[in-house]
Amino acid sequence: MSNSAFIKSSLAKKYYMALTGLFLCLFLVGHLLGNLQMIFKTGEEGKRIFNEYAYFMTHNPAVMVLSYLTYFSILFHAVDGIALLIQNKRARPVKYAYSKPSANSSWTSRYMALLGTLVLVFIATHMSNFWWKMKYTTEVPLHSYYSETNQDTLYLTHKGEQITTSQLRMIGETDGTQLIMKADKMNKSIEKEFQDYVSANVLSQDQLKELEEIKNKQIRKEDEVLGEGYKDLHTVVMQFFSKENKSENGVPYGLLGAVFYVLSMCVLSFHLWHGFASAFQSLGLNHPKYTPLIKVFGRGFSIVVPLLFAIIPVIVYIKS
Ligand code: HEM
Repeated sequence: MSNSAFIKSSLAKKYYMALTGLFLCLFLVGHLLGNLQMIFKTGEEGKRIFNEYAYFMTHNPAVMVLSYLTYFSILFHAVDGIALLIQNKRARPVKYAYSKPSANSSWTSRYMALLGTLVLVFIATHMSNFWWKMKYTTEVPLHSYYSETNQDTLYLTHKGEQITTSQLRMIGETDGTQLIMKADKMNKSIEKEFQDYVSANVLSQDQLKELEEIKNKQIRKEDEVLGEGYKDLHTVVMQFFSKENKSENGVPYGLLGAVFYVLSMCVLSFHLWHGFASAFQSLGLNHPKYTPLIKVFGRGFSIVVPLLFAIIPVIVYIKS
């Protein structure tokens, strides 16, 4: 590769890393605001608000598009970073006889690839802890609460209906912990009720016709989803970081989880410390007045965002 082609391809890689990196910073802000609800709102209300938020994040079409962009950005940022590292190593195969890296690059800049890899390990572990469980397993229970008035456990649906346990059995399709109320199941119970009534009573033609009309008005479109239960992700997160989360022989998984999250947030902080301002440079956005401001903002961002993420498991653990 000619020198100029090398520089061009290296610049392009840096450009895309900067774009995906800044997009992921936006994701971090949104994700942090959502997660902070876990410690600012407590009790039943906190649980409901967080589970409603998690439902919205996984079902709203616009948010779903953003989610796919996030997954793509994480993968692209990682692959592009590795490619850049290999390209730079190949271009400089022999180590300099005299090397004093601290003279021209800071600690974080030299360790960006290592820090990035550790952040990726954190994201993979983190997604398997919550996201995977929520999306692809039936391990996450439904959001439920005990109602003193009904003397029963009630389940909430995304349409705000409260479903009792017996209703859940009748119209809810309980695949593990999923609650999906499809119209076909409700239609069947309306049809059965109608048939039972007709066979138990002697009816005139007119009465039968009238009853049939009432029944047909109640029948809904076969595949219509009448209600879907909220998954109780709040309880899953609370239990994950709790003191009670221990193995049979006493290994404190809750504590280890919280420590892992705090250490990972330190790593993320170092990664952002260099990455934030450097992204603006890679995009060619240099300005005598604004570049120092961006640097200051980037440093504030790299401390405040990971710090706020880190206090969540710590508070959950302490309060458990
Ligand atoms: C204490 C800190 C954190 C907690 C309690 C937490 C909690 C959660 C939960 C409950 C989910 C699944 C539900 C949802 O999509 O909203 C999730 C998804 C996710 N988390 Fe976190 N998170 C934390 C920090 C982080 C950090 C620091 C990162 C990135 C460096 C991150 C990256 C992700 C990603 C990429 C997803 C999938 C998002 C999607 O599907 O749109 N999380 N997190």
